[in-house]
Amino acid sequence: MRKTKLQKFKEIEKFSNVFQCPYTVLKKKIKIKNKLSNLFPQNDNPLILELGCGKGEYTTNLARLFPNKNFVGVDIKGARIYSGAKQALMEHLNNVAFLRTNIDIINHFFIQNKISEIWIPFPDPQIKKINKRLISARFIKYYSNILINNGIIHLKTDSDFLFNYTRKIIEANNFRILFQTNDLYKNYQTDKILTIKTFYEQQWLNKGLKIKYISFFLQKKEIYFEPKSGIDI
Ligand SMILES: C[S@@+](CC[C@H](N)C(=O)[O-])C[C@H]1O[C@@H](n2cnc3c(N)ncnc32)[C@H](O)[C@@H]1O
Repeated sequence: MRKTKLQKFKEIEKFSNVFQCPYTVLKKKIKIKNKLSNLFPQNDNPLILELGCGKGEYTTNLARLFPNKNFVGVDIKGARIYSGAKQALMEHLNNVAFLRTNIDIINHFFIQNKISEIWIPFPDPQIKKINKRLISARFIKYYSNILINNGIIHLKTDSDFLFNYTRKIIEANNFRILFQTNDLYKNYQTDKILTIKTFYEQQWLNKGLKIKYISFFLQKKEIYFEPKSGIDI
């Protein structure tokens, strides 16, 4: 029988690989940073985030492919995180953790220069609300704190709008593109990493939409620019 959201919320509280941190815990931020910096006490391997991870397909699949790296999936929705966290526990994937929080406060959970890569698979394009767009200058500024210099951002999307916006923000800030394709499954259908499919991705594929992917190096700067308005952050 399928579990209700409430059952998942109750169960997830006991998961050893899930940390739930709403806005209210901000007061304890130093303690939290220490705690999350020690998520994987057994090693000091590179740490990779999946933001807006939903069910955490990138987190769990990359963890299987790269046992010498650590992965943290971040999302505000506990019922979604539940799937990935449960799977990771069942498979004893000890290089996986999940953080339930708002990405707006991501800087409070990791020390500076801790993260080597960030995956952002199928974020809501937020066409009308730049401030909520997970690839906007506001969020880039947050990521630049916790990423190593020239850490890598990976974005996958079905949205032409978001793909073009991302290319513009890369251009506006002189970031270096690592790789891009506007039709992933036409050109790279055998790539083990790029073809990991998320829940939302499968839905878009079922509708016949083209999947776009772009990755770039996030260079640390004082100010980041929005492409259209020129507002600096
Ligand atoms: C369109 S879904 C994509 C989920 C998953 N990446 C996939 O491809 O199946 C976007 C996800 O981002 C999460 N999200 C959006 N903004 C967020 C924020 N500011 N903080 C935490 N999670 C956020 C939502 O809860 C949702 O699960």
